Amino acid sequence: MNFTITTDTVAEIKSDLEVIIIIDGNMKHRFIQDKKLLKKAGFLASQDEVCHLIEKNRLYVGAESLKGTSLRPAVASALRSLIGKKAYKSIKLATYLSHPRCSASLRAIVEGIVLGSYTFTTYKSKQVKSSVKSIQISLEGYNKHEITAEIAVRAIHNGEISANATNFTRDIVNTTPDDCYPEVMANIAEDMAKDTGLKCHILKPKALRKEKMETLLAVARASRHKPRVIHLTHKPKNPVAVISLVGKGLTYDSGGLSLKPADYMVGMKSDKSGGSAVLGIMKAVAEMNLPIEVHGFVGAVENMIGGDAYKPDDVLVAKNGKTIEIRNTDAEGRLVLADTLCYAQQEVKADYLLDFATLTGACVVGVGHYTSGIMGNSDEVKELVSYGAKVSGELATELDFNPYLKKTIKSEIADICNISNTRYGGAITAGQFLSEFIDDEHKEKWAHIDIAGPAFVEHSWGENPHGASGAGVRMTIRLLEKIIRSKESTK
Ligand code: BES
Ligand code: ZN
Ligand code: ZN
Repeated sequence: MNFTITTDTVAEIKSDLEVIIIIDGNMKHRFIQDKKLLKKAGFLASQDEVCHLIEKNRLYVGAESLKGTSLRPAVASALRSLIGKKAYKSIKLATYLSHPRCSASLRAIVEGIVLGSYTFTTYKSKQVKSSVKSIQISLEGYNKHEITAEIAVRAIHNGEISANATNFTRDIVNTTPDDCYPEVMANIAEDMAKDTGLKCHILKPKALRKEKMETLLAVARASRHKPRVIHLTHKPKNPVAVISLVGKGLTYDSGGLSLKPADYMVGMKSDKSGGSAVLGIMKAVAEMNLPIEVHGFVGAVENMIGGDAYKPDDVLVAKNGKTIEIRNTDAEGRLVLADTLCYAQQEVKADYLLDFATLTGACVVGVGHYTSGIMGNSDEVKELVSYGAKVSGELATELDFNPYLKKTIKSEIADICNISNTRYGGAITAGQFLSEFIDDEHKEKWAHIDIAGPAFVEHSWGENPHGASGAGVRMTIRLLEKIIRSKESTK
C-alpha cells in the first residue's frame, strides 16, 4: 500500500473512491453530500456501519467519535467491504483529528486501512483480496483542528509499520501447524532479521540441552518437530533503555497426554500467538529504528502425544534449578516460558521484561474474548502495559496476584506444581507460576500478558477479521514509544 499526504482538497484529488467517515451520526457535516440517498438507503451511520454509493464513488462509514478506538474499527470495516472489488485501486479521504496537532486519530485511520484490508488466502484456491493500493490523504480537516505535514507524515509512517507488523504476526499464527512448526518459525525470524537488520540467534536441541532447558525439551519430546529458541536483537547506539520480550510459541498444543477434548483442540495452531507477536514487534521496532535496545525471545515447541511424551507425575528441573511436579501436560505453556524466561534473564539484564502468551482458558472465561490479562509484581509496569493497550485500541485489564491463590500451586513432592489445586483463578495462578522463574533482579521489571482471549478471533470484531488478530503487537509498540518519550524528556 502506498500512502500519500497532500494539501489538495479532497475534491481536487483523483481516485476510484472517496471514503467519508460520519462522526456521531452528524449527517449535517459539509463532507456529506448524499444526505437524501443515505436516508433512502436506511443508513444510520452507527459505529462500523458501511454504505457504498456505487454510482457516486463514495463509501460512507459511521464512527461514534473522533477517538482512535472508534476510527480504527470504522475505517477497517469500510476497507473490509472493498475486499474482492477489483475496481477500487485508489481511495482518498480527509483528515479527522480529535485535537489540534494530535496525530493519534490519523495513525488510527492508517492502521484501520491496513488492518481492514488484511486477508489470509494461503489455503484458498481462489484468491479474494483487497485491490486498494494507493491511499491519498488530504490535509483538509473534518474540523478546524490542524496538523503539520511533518507530523502527519510521521503518524502515517508509524501507523503503517505497526499495522503491517500486526498483519505479519497474523500470517504466522494463521499458518497451519504442519506448515509452521518450530523450525519454520525460526526460519521466519531469520528471514525477517535479514530484511530488517536485526541480529538473530537460534538455539537448536543440542544448545538447549547445554543451556539446561529441560522443561522446554520435555514438552517438545513427543513431537517429530524439534524445538527452537529464537533470540532477536535490536541494538541501536546509545539506547534509552533495555527491554526483553518473551513469547510462548506453541506451534501446536494438543494438550499432550492430558489430551484436549476434540472441540478444544481445534484452533490450537493459535497457541504460537505470543511468540508470533514478539516476531511482529521486533519487525516494527527495527523498521521504526526505535532508540531502545529490544530483545525478542521465542520458545517454539509442539506439544504432542506419543511413547516418548512427558507425563503427569513427572518431575522436571527448570533452567533455574527449580523442580516442577507435572500434574497436567496441557499446562505446557508455563513450562516452555519458565525456561525461556530464565534464558532471557541470563542473556540480558533488562529494564523491562514482558512476556506474551495464550496461557490459559481461564483468562478467557474471566475477562472475555476481547481482552488480555496483565499480571505481575509491579504496578508501574502493569500500568505501562495498560497504557499501551489503551492508546493502541487493544483491550487489556490488570489481574492482581494475591497470596491465597499462590498457595494453590504448592507441591507435596517438588518445589512447585504446574497446575493449581483449585478450579478457579487459573489465569492468576499461571501468572504466579511464571513469577517463580523471574529472578530478584527482574521481579519489579516484569509483566505477563495473557492474550488467550483476543489472539484468535472466531467471529470478526473491531478491526479484526476471522483468524489471528495480532494481539500484543500494537500495544507493545505504543508502550515502547512511551518509554522512549519519558526517558528523552528526563535526559
Ligand atoms: N494453550 C492453552 C490455553 C488456551 C486455551 C489458549 C484456550 C487459547 C484458548 C494452554 O496451554 C492450556 O491448555 N491451559 C490449560 C491449563 C490447565 C490445564 C491448568 C487451560 O487453560 O485449560
Ligand atoms: Zn495446553
Ligand atoms: Zn498452550
